[in-house]
Amino acid sequence: PLPRVRDLSALRAAVSGFRHKGLRIGFVPTMGALHEGHLALVRHAKTLSDVVVVSVFVNPKQFAPHEDFDRYPRTEDKDAQLLESVGANLLYLPRVDLMYPSVFASSVHVEGPARELEGTFRPQFFDGVATVVMKLFNQVQPDVAIFGEKDYQQLQVVKTFVRDLDLPVQVVGMPTVREADGLALSSRNAYLSADERQKAARLIVELNTVAKAVRSGGQREKALSAAKANLLAAGFGPVDYVELRDADTLAMADAQTQNLRLLAAAWLGKTRLIDNIAV
Ligand code: PAJ
Repeated sequence: PLPRVRDLSALRAAVSGFRHKGLRIGFVPTMGALHEGHLALVRHAKTLSDVVVVSVFVNPKQFAPHEDFDRYPRTEDKDAQLLESVGANLLYLPRVDLMYPSVFASSVHVEGPARELEGTFRPQFFDGVATVVMKLFNQVQPDVAIFGEKDYQQLQVVKTFVRDLDLPVQVVGMPTVREADGLALSSRNAYLSADERQKAARLIVELNTVAKAVRSGGQREKALSAAKANLLAAGFGPVDYVELRDADTLAMADAQTQNLRLLAAAWLGKTRLIDNIAV
């Protein structure tokens, strides 16, 4: 069965074993409740490295007090089974008090791509993400780490601090894995009622409609407003944002921007969904 380690000394012992054999280490950080999206990252990591380490850690620092930290799904044995089935080599499950002992005074703060979009609606979120990913990188010391485009802004934030702070890890993005109706797989989809689940696919439908309009030279502001109005009419609300951005910097897009990304976040009942596509 897939070995599970819970403390840093056991992780370091396993990793130094891999290193002494000259193996290239791939790493997939997750918060568990694994689905096909996560497994695609692990399968891709296998093709880029010799051994794959996966972490499952529901990171309290990236949840605001009113958010879903306590009810976030925790399914350790099922996760371990799935990871074994796709050939992961080591599962790292750090305890919260190991990651954040009572005396803890540091954080990683990123400006640039972290400032708006999710950064506006979840002000502490990217500090929490960057801090935990920095710690995990220092603990696992991977050669390559795989992140999903599902969380496109997170991917750009990680790429930014890895570059800015000279971390010796290659960051690779993977396309979003979707359900048959287009809904992006997410651990939070488990919160949706049957009725909400049916409505949820409307998000990607609207994004595709905007992308098509933009590609054919249509009026951008009109397309974005129509998408927001259609989501509200379909039962979403509030719609936090539907925005066109520079795909690399996430700065506001203008007519000159070459590489565009369309990103959205909207609530469906008590569940907040995010999605994004290339334009
Ligand atoms: P989590 O939401 O568990 O996601 C872990 C990784 O899986 C992320 O890189 C995410 O983008 C990717 N992922 C999720 N759904 C996906 C999908 N449908 N298709 C492709 N990839 C998908 O993101 C986090 O955890 C955390 O913020 C973390 C990076 C672990 C830091 O705590």
